[in-house]
Amino acid sequence: MKRTLVIVGASYAGVQLAASVRELGFDDRIVLLGDEPDAPYQRPPLSKGFLTGSFAEERLPLRSQAFFDEENIEWMPSTRATFIDRERREIELHDGSRIAYDHLALTTGARVRKLDCPGASLDAVHYLRDLRDAKRLAETARSTKRAVVIGGGYIGLEAAASLRQQGLDVTVVETESRLLARVASPWISDFMLRAHVQRGVAFELGRKVVALHDAYGVVSVELDNGTRVLCDLVVVGIGVIPNTELAADCGLHVEGGITVDACARTGDPRIVAAGDCASLVPHWAPPGGRVCRIESVQNANDLAKTAAASILGRCEPYRAVPWFWSDQYDLKLQMAGVNSGFTDFAVRGSVEERKCSLFYFRDNTLIAVDSINRPQDHMLARKLLASGAHVRAEEVRDPAFDLKSLVNGDAHALRGAA
Ligand code: NAI
Repeated sequence: MKRTLVIVGASYAGVQLAASVRELGFDDRIVLLGDEPDAPYQRPPLSKGFLTGSFAEERLPLRSQAFFDEENIEWMPSTRATFIDRERREIELHDGSRIAYDHLALTTGARVRKLDCPGASLDAVHYLRDLRDAKRLAETARSTKRAVVIGGGYIGLEAAASLRQQGLDVTVVETESRLLARVASPWISDFMLRAHVQRGVAFELGRKVVALHDAYGVVSVELDNGTRVLCDLVVVGIGVIPNTELAADCGLHVEGGITVDACARTGDPRIVAAGDCASLVPHWAPPGGRVCRIESVQNANDLAKTAAASILGRCEPYRAVPWFWSDQYDLKLQMAGVNSGFTDFAVRGSVEERKCSLFYFRDNTLIAVDSINRPQDHMLARKLLASGAHVRAEEVRDPAFDLKSLVNGDAHALRGAA
């Protein structure tokens, strides 16, 4: 008898999961539900090249239509799942129809956190999560001169860079005292701040927006110290909220995200979850570590592969090294590993030339590497972190030391012999 796998959410995790189960030999029915009208597309360019006009819409699709046809994946656009009936093993759609499933994958992603202050719903206010948001913002940016970006995280800084490159005056308002505080070290925060200031972006750090006012098309953004910044465009990037309602409503455990184990399995043996909506205790957490969500393309793809294996009855615990990237101006920032709790760091390369990497250590163990315009270091860092190679801070600082030798194990052998 033919089985049916229903995947709810047609972005990175959903599409990867569909591709992976096929690769692993699942020959039965796959239904991929997406609530957006557009074919699954890449999101990273939306705040970068798509906004500046250097990345055309035709290049956005994640996979071609031929892929869905050839792999016999029934992609259903503009289709919203509204309820999971676990007893009957059926999923209900927005039009009241139902699809029976044998396996269910929740790859529902996350939605933007909305600004909550007077004036937050003015027409001048934009968010940047999906293609429709990006199109609307790109269109508006062409006819405006001054933008206020609320939030100094990835979206905020990438949008600030893209708008500045198009000649707009840009002010970024961030509640924390430094940029990228959720993900980056203070060193990287300072570096990125200087890079933006050098290009003419203004900053209001440690400030809250208390209200937005519109006077005949001119918006003034009122801050908690009484300052008013005038603009005609507001971009809000203040984080995301995972889409966990479907899971919570059918009684699955939700803690920050849809809770899964290391094999992406929820408490229901027929349901897996992956991507921005899923939370798990990461493999790098200390014993007794808490669940967390990882918001990245890498995590969506890799956890989806784990989930696909679980659907086929193979538990292959998630062990991937996390990595992220961000392009702002001519700076390519790439991060491998998680630097939280680092006790020391070493710099390799030239900060002046904007080609350098920071290697973070916790108790003499390498835990993360941030690279700026040093993609070769980033690739090496992922290998060093995956292999658990022992790296020393003095080796990182020594430009003559070949870090690659640590991946190959030569240096271990030398040390062992010494
Ligand atoms: P984020 O969590 O990275 O940054 C949000 C920032 O807004 C934080 O710095 C926070 O302190 C600040 N903030 C929160 N409330 C605020 C308020 N009321 N006023 C001013 N600042 C406030 O989230 P972001 O940038 O919105 O990105 C959303 C998602 O998109 C994340 O999952 C992010 O990882 C992902 N993304 C990833 C990119 C990458 O990897 N290069 C690029 C763009 C987005």
